[in-house]
Amino acid sequence: MSIQEFENKCFRELDFLYSNQEITSLCKYAYQEYFGDHWPSEISDKRREIRSDKQKLFENYLNQLTLGNPYQYIFGYTEFYGLRLKVGEGVLIPRPETEQLVDWVLEDFEALGNLRVLDACCGSGAISIALSKHLESARITGVDISEQALKYAVENDEIYQSNLQWIKQDLFDFKPEVKFDVIVSNPPYVRDLEKKEMHLNVLGKEPHTALFVSDNDPLVFYERLRYIFNQCTQDHAVMYLECNQYLKQDLIDLYSPEFIVESRDDFRMNFRMLKLSKKQ
Ligand SMILES: C[S@@+](CC[C@H](N)C(=O)[O-])C[C@H]1O[C@@H](n2cnc3c(N)ncnc32)[C@H](O)[C@@H]1O
Repeated sequence: MSIQEFENKCFRELDFLYSNQEITSLCKYAYQEYFGDHWPSEISDKRREIRSDKQKLFENYLNQLTLGNPYQYIFGYTEFYGLRLKVGEGVLIPRPETEQLVDWVLEDFEALGNLRVLDACCGSGAISIALSKHLESARITGVDISEQALKYAVENDEIYQSNLQWIKQDLFDFKPEVKFDVIVSNPPYVRDLEKKEMHLNVLGKEPHTALFVSDNDPLVFYERLRYIFNQCTQDHAVMYLECNQYLKQDLIDLYSPEFIVESRDDFRMNFRMLKLSKKQ
């Protein structure tokens, strides 16, 4: 099979699931992953045969994609904040929007050490580990209900030797003994009614407990986080939250009587983040 034949096959077999632009990207990712090189732009280069030992990798990749597996699960990792993090079935693939949440924390806290930070709903540990690379003396705790997600968090922690604390617990039962200076959280926030907007491989393969909340109670995690922010943080504490783009006003109404609320959009220009500070 030549590179061109692989590309043609991808377009034939994946068009039920992906746009043309996405298929082109998926071909490029495979080429980068299996050849460590950039996708050839010249037609003559695409006529080159894929070596037989590599062909199996490309075929398996395409088979997995047709089954709806995200390419990050097939490769077993994703890139987040310049880190290569292990991911796989049972854990949410960290998203680029979440890197902007990390940016916001680091803009405010880069110069300060010794912080106690809570990453509520930590998943693969992406936020915690990214923060730990920049806030070296911070003491960071990640909490998640999912054993599978925490398995990835622990493995990622080992790779980056971050030495963070991981707690398997339902956030609704979480009663820490220490007071935090910073809370950061990307909790489940997609309403069931938004499922129809989502890509089939997200719906079919990524864990629903990581993503969805009921249409009747979409702020359930944000209410719990308000409670934790009130009960378990220092007076000067700050909380950073990733949010549902459609619920900006509801969230501002939830927090603004009590806290100073700032908001930010993501790189797609959708509302995405809140920062809450306690009124002194
Ligand atoms: C949107 S994912 C975010 C994961 C990670 N922080 C990230 O940004 O990639 C939400 C996470 O919340 C966890 N979760 C869901 N319900 C929870 C609960 N009741 N208590 C604690 N964690 C929960 C899920 O297991 C999932 O890992």
